[in-house]
Amino acid sequence: MSETPPQLPLTPQTLLMAHSLTQVIISLHQTGILQQLEQQAQDVATLAKTAELSVTAIQQCLPIAEKLGLVRQDGTQKYHLTDAAHCLLPDHPATIIPALEHAALGYPAWGQLTHSLRTGASAFPEAYGADIYDYLATHPTDNTAFRQHMANSTQAWLNPAVGRYPFSGHVIDLGGNQGDFSALLLQHYPELHSTVFDLPETVAPADQVLSTAGVAERGQIVAGSFFAPEQIPTHGSHYLFSRVLLNWPDEQVVQILQNCRQAMPADSKLVILEFVQTTQADLGADIGNLNLLVMFGARIRTQVDFADLVSQAGFHSPRWIPASDTLPLYYLEAKPMTDDELPANT
Ligand SMILES: C[S@@+](CC[C@H](N)C(=O)[O-])C[C@H]1O[C@@H](n2cnc3c(N)ncnc32)[C@H](O)[C@@H]1O
Repeated sequence: MSETPPQLPLTPQTLLMAHSLTQVIISLHQTGILQQLEQQAQDVATLAKTAELSVTAIQQCLPIAEKLGLVRQDGTQKYHLTDAAHCLLPDHPATIIPALEHAALGYPAWGQLTHSLRTGASAFPEAYGADIYDYLATHPTDNTAFRQHMANSTQAWLNPAVGRYPFSGHVIDLGGNQGDFSALLLQHYPELHSTVFDLPETVAPADQVLSTAGVAERGQIVAGSFFAPEQIPTHGSHYLFSRVLLNWPDEQVVQILQNCRQAMPADSKLVILEFVQTTQADLGADIGNLNLLVMFGARIRTQVDFADLVSQAGFHSPRWIPASDTLPLYYLEAKPMTDDELPANT
C-alpha cells in the first residue's frame, strides 16, 4: 500500500514542540519498538509486553509516530511499520541509525544553544562537562556511533570527490576516522599509498576497513593526535584534512595546520577537502552549520576564511578545485612556506 508522507504545519506554535518529534523518533529506536514491528504487526498491549514498556505510555506515543508516517494502524488495532521507517532499522542498507544516535548525543547540547549564541562557543561542555572529543574518548558507545556516522556520510557525500583531485605518492589522511575515505582513494588510485591517522579509539577499526576494501597492503594506520606535532607522520607527499577543520574554532585550526606544516616535507602539499559557505544554503545546510557551533564551537567557512587561516599557519595562497557537482564541497591545495619565507609572527 502506498503511504502518504505526513504534512506537518510548520507554524511557530507547532515548531515550539518540534523537539518532542525528535525525541519520539529517538525513543522509538531506543525502546526497540520499530524492530518489534518489523518482525510482525502488533497491538499496543502485545507491543508493550514484548518490549517491556508501559501500555498507556505507548498509547500516547504511537499516534504521534503514526502522524510522522513511521507506523500505521490497521482495522484490527495492530500497528505496522511503514516503508518510510525502514531506514530506522539497523540492517537497512541506508540505515540512518548512526545519524540518529549522533542527533541523540547532540540533543542535550542543543538545549544549551542560548549559551552558544551568547558566547560563540560550543554548547557541548555545558551539557556534558567536557569538549566533545574528550567526552568521546571516554564514552566508547557514543564514539562508535560518531565514527559510524562519519563513515556513512563519507560514502554518501565524499564518493564523487575521490577522482576530483590528482592524488599521488603517499597521502597522510589526518583525522581519517576509521579509514573509509582512504579506502576509496586507494581503490581509485592503484599506485597510491595512504596513512590513516586518527585518535586511538577511532582509528582502531581501520585495518578491517582497509582489508575489506582490498587495499590493506597500501594502507598504514597510525594512532595519534594532530595536537602533538611529533606524532604526525613525516613521510607524506599530500597531507589531507577531509571534513576535519570544520570541527574546530579558528585558533585550533591554525594550531593544527602549523603542527602539520612542521611534519611536512618541503615538497609536499596540504590538501583540505571541505564544505564551504555559499549564499544558497538551504534549511538543512543552515541547521548543519549551527550544529557545528553547538557541538564543536565551529562553523562552515568561506573560501576567504580558509585562505586567511592557511596563510596564518604558514602556507602559500591556496588553489581551489570543485569536488562535487551537487554539494558545495571543494579541495583546497596549498604548499608550505619554507622557514625563510615564513612571516616573523608565524
Ligand atoms: C568529522 S570527522 C571526519 C572524518 C573523515 N576525515 C571524513 O571525512 O569522513 C573528524 C575526525 O577528526 C578526528 N580527530 C579529532 N580530534 C583529533 C586529533 N586530536 N587528532 C587526530 N584526529 C582527530 C576525529 O576522531 C574524526 O575521525
